[in-house]
Amino acid sequence: MNILVLGSGGREYALAWKISQSKLVDKLYIAPGNAGTNSLGENLNINIADFNIVKETVLSRDINMVVVGPEQPLVDGIVDFFKNDEMLKNVNIIGPDKKGAQLEGSKAFAKAFMEKYNIPTASCFTVTSSNLEEGLNYLTTQKSPYVLKADGLAAGKGVLIIDSLEEAQNELKDMLSGKFGSASAKVVIETFLKGIEVSMFVLTDGEHYVVLPEAKDYKRIGDGDTGLNTGGMGAVSPVPFVTPEFVEKVETRIIKPTIQGLKEENIDYKGFIFIGLMNVDGDPYVIEYNVRMGDPETEGVMTRIDSDLLELLDACAKGKLNEVDYQTSKNTSVTVMLVSGGYPEDYKKGMVMTGFEELDADCIIAHAGTKLNDKGEVVTSGGRVIAVTAHGNNIEEARNKAYKNAEKIKFEGVNYRHDIGLDLMKF
Ligand code: AMP
Ligand code: GLY
Repeated sequence: MNILVLGSGGREYALAWKISQSKLVDKLYIAPGNAGTNSLGENLNINIADFNIVKETVLSRDINMVVVGPEQPLVDGIVDFFKNDEMLKNVNIIGPDKKGAQLEGSKAFAKAFMEKYNIPTASCFTVTSSNLEEGLNYLTTQKSPYVLKADGLAAGKGVLIIDSLEEAQNELKDMLSGKFGSASAKVVIETFLKGIEVSMFVLTDGEHYVVLPEAKDYKRIGDGDTGLNTGGMGAVSPVPFVTPEFVEKVETRIIKPTIQGLKEENIDYKGFIFIGLMNVDGDPYVIEYNVRMGDPETEGVMTRIDSDLLELLDACAKGKLNEVDYQTSKNTSVTVMLVSGGYPEDYKKGMVMTGFEELDADCIIAHAGTKLNDKGEVVTSGGRVIAVTAHGNNIEEARNKAYKNAEKIKFEGVNYRHDIGLDLMKF
């Protein structure tokens, strides 16, 4: 099979890394990819937001399957574009249709879906400029901290958690007046859930599913969960509090009703579902759905899947996920994300990276914001630059190896968290 992975980050590197090991892959393309994906397959420097260009690429390279990494093309309807095009009818595409992508693209849609299908989540109230007064009153019925979410995609910045009622009321007004552009023309006010977060991943063909390894993500920039929110600074998989009993609750209360709901809504969903969960005293509540894999979770999760990913994706596309042999590793993976100094605010690009040849053979690096410069050197080209993953029999072993290798990669201004996994060692 010829495969095209869409995207350019660490998540796409990890997907391509795993696909490149498949016995079913003939030619692997990544568009646009990064400095690392080029050694897993062939990078194609195309604009993936232009679906006609994607179509031309798929047809001219005889591509059999497209794996969509990021959410934006899904929210923009790339799956519908493929399904509705005579020439692309026989090309499989992994991801939900445009309506299904609303699970991530609209918080209000996701909340209404969860309410309709009785899926545990925080209670909420949706506000637009036409019911602002009701929204301000609703806030007075809530306890601090107050959770305000922009309805639409806001590059991970659209959620505010605020201690003071007055400030929350002011923020609500600001959001409705365009603080996050059109993404916050609608705002969801949610009850605050107290607990520990975990990212669960499901691959579904719309009928059957497999639960992929779960992971814990570290969102803040600083050690001890301090400072600004980022896209994710590291990950650990598996997560010690995700016991078989907890997974059973997630399957019964969340995954099965979600898939049932997708069917009842006539949503065509053959792809990944990322369920952001809060573990509240042993009970799972959905914080958010994403219609793609997580980043940096994927960089760890892919290293813990023993089965052939392409076999899984092919079965997914054919509606036969119930027939696959699916095995995961018992090892623990720890992923440390190396970022540019200044990230998640302003940072420099183009810093030359060194140290790759000193890495241990069993440590896995996933390029994220990297590219090759004119001299063929690997240089930084983004905030999150490269993810270092190592395995061990437990978190401590995996942590030690991951950090030993993370220290070897050098570039001006390099920064990373030193406490990935530390909080989980007490479980
Ligand atoms: P989201 O984009 O919905 O994942 O929200 C971003 C982050 O805000 C989440 O990862 C949580 O840490 C936090 N968060 C969102 N909703 C809630 C909630 N209802 N209670 C507590 N924390 C929340
Ligand atoms: N790591 C969180 C996300 O991918 O949204």
